[in-house]
This record gives sequence, structure tokens and C-alpha cells, in this order.
Amino acid sequence: TKIEPGSVSWRSPSNIALIKYWGKHGRQLPQNPSFSFTLDQAFSETTLEYTTKTGADQGIALEFLFEGKENDAFREKVKKYLESITDIFPFLRQFNLKIRSSNSFPHSAGIASSASGMSALALCLCSLEYELFGTLEDDLAFRKKASYVARLGSGSACRSIYAKAAIWGDNPEVEAASDLYAIPYWEEIDPVFHSFHDDILIVNKSEKKVSSRAGHGLMEGNVYAEDRYRQARQRFRQLIGALKKGDLETFGRITEGEALTLHAMMMASPTPYLLLHPNTINIIQRLQDYRATSGQPIYFTLDAGPNPHILYPDSIAREAQQFIRGELSEFCVDWIEDQVGEGPLQLEE
Ligand code: PMV
Repeated sequence: TKIEPGSVSWRSPSNIALIKYWGKHGRQLPQNPSFSFTLDQAFSETTLEYTTKTGADQGIALEFLFEGKENDAFREKVKKYLESITDIFPFLRQFNLKIRSSNSFPHSAGIASSASGMSALALCLCSLEYELFGTLEDDLAFRKKASYVARLGSGSACRSIYAKAAIWGDNPEVEAASDLYAIPYWEEIDPVFHSFHDDILIVNKSEKKVSSRAGHGLMEGNVYAEDRYRQARQRFRQLIGALKKGDLETFGRITEGEALTLHAMMMASPTPYLLLHPNTINIIQRLQDYRATSGQPIYFTLDAGPNPHILYPDSIAREAQQFIRGELSEFCVDWIEDQVGEGPLQLEE
């Protein structure tokens, strides 16, 4: 039967991990559980167009436009990814596919776009499957599947599927959690975290020298790896406790510890490398001084790059933003005022 041409579109946000996923095994499975806030302003929008193939070619037929322009490097990456998931979506071989994707933030702004881009694409694929076969799933089942599919593209992307906050990875504290997909986790945590701010300070826009794929790989030869995974599990348990209680001080201590440990692992890896910039350190020191003198609950975290994320509750937004503008902006070339968001949104054409 011939299927009418059609398209599906999703907007999906980036996320910021507080307990970091760093080190994996098997088919993109994490070595430890992670927890993240879903962001709001940093998102990707992806449209998947499909028409039935006329020839008998069984390969993946893909056109890929990024920010409106053909992009061969991205097309090859996405094609490989789609080929790797034809066991889940065999129907992908029957279509000519055209993907258009764009980001709300400038490309190579030093912001990881794999979480937003891969989650948006995974949601499109699950919507296409639903349009073709219309299986009667509830929203949570649909999202778990999208999270599973996103994970295979980029591990951290599996956490972008849900509003506000998510957990990925088996652990003794949260029974519903899984290594295979992330689950939503906001009803359980104190409301102070439902509107948390996360301002991304961009100190350097250049693309990072070592990809996160290579970074995960280097954990395999890292002599601290097992201790790190043990520490991550312990910190995960402590963070969950702090999130439930609304204990900002414990939240901040663990969050900052995680950021520094992530970079410590890079420095301690068999091929050592450093992704921090002098201004990363300047920002961290100014922030910690400000916290010590003002007593305000304002903290930082880092992704696998030099750009600090500044975290604070909405109740101190005015003071915090005044401090960031006044004392931190001199160290960055740009910044994005972001906060905890409502998760992905299906777009109508
Ligand atoms: O999803 P990946 O393979 O790009 O790994 C990202 C890992 C970190 O962003 C550094 C941490 C995390 O949990 O998001």
C-alpha cells in the first residue's frame, strides 16, 4: 500500500546534568545514574518529511538540511544513526526522508546541541511510527520509547524528553528508573527546583577539541573509573535527598563537585586533556566569593566544555542577574538566560 507523503515536527530542548553521565558500556548504556534539568530557551526544531520510495533500494535515503543549508557532515552522522535503528523502525527503508533541523542558539556557540537535536529527531521518528501504525500508547509510553530511541543517538538526549527534570539509569533510590530510557522526575522534588534558573555563560565559542564520544571512550582506560562510578552513585543518592527536601546547600555542593569531577576525569584520562578556559576559573572564583559574602544560593555546573552554567532559584533572580551582569559578564562573549522548561512540543505545520 502506498502511503501519502507527510511530515512531523518537534521542538525539543537541551538539558543540563547535575549528576553527570560520563562513561558508558554496551549499546549506549550508562555506567551510573544521572539527573538533569530540562532547559527552555536552548532547543532544536526538527521536521521529518517522508515520501514512499519508488525504487527497490533498501538503503536509507536521506536529505539533511541544517539551518536551511545542506550539511554533509551532519547528514552522514544522522544516516549512520538511522541505519543503526532500522531494527526498531524497519519502515525507514521504505521512504525518501528529508530532515530539516535548526537550533534556537547559534551553532558552534559552544553549547552542546546533541541532546536537543537527537531528542527532537527521536520524537519525530516515534510520531512517524505512530502515524503509520497508530499503536494505542499513552503519553508516558510514547515518551519512554522516544527516550529509548534518543539514547541510541546521544546518551544525554534521552533526558530531554520530559518537562522540568529527568533521571536516567538504574539505581536503588528510584524504582522506575532504567538504563534503557530516562523517566520524568519533577513531582517528587521540592517546588523550588521547578522554576530554577540556568544561565549559560559562553566564554569560548569554538568547537571542543575532544568530542564527548571520545571522552566516554577514555573513561575505559582511566585508573579512577570505578571510583568515579561509585562516587556518582553515592552523589546521586545524596542529590535525590536534597531535591526532595529543597536543601539548596547540599544541592549546590554536589552539583559543583560533579562539574569539577567531570573535568578532573578528563585531566586524569590516559590521553589527558583540558577543556577549561582561564575565564571558566575566573567565573567560578567570582561566583564562590559572591556566595561566601552574600550568602545567596547561587551555584555553577559545567558541561563537557568551558562554558559555566549558573544555577539559582527564581526567588533570588534579581540579585543573581545583577551580579552576573555586573561581575561575570566581563569574562564571557555571550550568554543565554535559561531556566527549567516544560519539555518537548509537537509542532503543527
Ligand atoms: O550524550 P553525550 O554522549 O554527548 O554525553 C554527554 C555527557 C555530559 O554532557 C558531559 C554529561 C551529561 O550527563 O549530560
